[in-house]
Amino acid sequence: MSDVHIDGGERNAARTRQVVDYLAALPGQIDAVVISGDLTQIGRPVDYAALREILAPLEVPVLCCPGNHDERGAFRAGMLGLEEGSGPVNQAHEVAGASILLCDSLIPGSDAGRLGPETLSWLDSALTRSDGPAFVVLHHPPVAVGIPELDAIRLQDADDLAAVLARHPRVAGVLCGHVHAAVATTFAGVPVRVAPGVKSTTTLPWEHTGDPTNLDLPVGLAFHHHENDVLTTHFRSL
Ligand SMILES: [Fe+2]
Ligand SMILES: [Fe+2]
Repeated sequence: MSDVHIDGGERNAARTRQVVDYLAALPGQIDAVVISGDLTQIGRPVDYAALREILAPLEVPVLCCPGNHDERGAFRAGMLGLEEGSGPVNQAHEVAGASILLCDSLIPGSDAGRLGPETLSWLDSALTRSDGPAFVVLHHPPVAVGIPELDAIRLQDADDLAAVLARHPRVAGVLCGHVHAAVATTFAGVPVRVAPGVKSTTTLPWEHTGDPTNLDLPVGLAFHHHENDVLTTHFRSL
């Protein structure tokens, strides 16, 4: 799931709860929940605390990366229980035989994304540390998706990410958010999946005149299934 934008209001919290309740009530097992950034609207500690409470019913690991609307220090403290700090928040997790590598693409004060040398070299070494499939999670998609408003604020150093991915064929997918739309594409020969936005849906240029943000479409999520070296994604609207 992605872009829950918790803001102190009831609406976004209710939509997030809708996804969490759905996942928590599944009769079968999933391995983990990934939230690909924009956890809050403006990065307040109180909003991370509220989100933690909303996510509490989930009994699987919940892995989060920050987005442009997040604040690193508050994210680090509120979601990871770590001391506040200003550097990028990168995390490696092993789940069900796969590596989930969550990269921090936020640029303080900007809506665009950038991984930067520190995070790229962290990713490069994290990818050499084990084998098996790896999923790279970052908020900002590294490719244009055909929505001008979002393409203008996508990942800036995508070429550098492509160079890292080229060295590691074990990367099975790149999982993003930021677009607020369910999107499937490819980047550097790797499948890219953008999870739908919990808060809203960004419509396509030929679907609107004016503001592309649609608040009325249903809340959604993506299920990722990896088998025989193939990533298959099922998108679900609730
Ligand atoms: Fe967002
Ligand atoms: Fe975003």
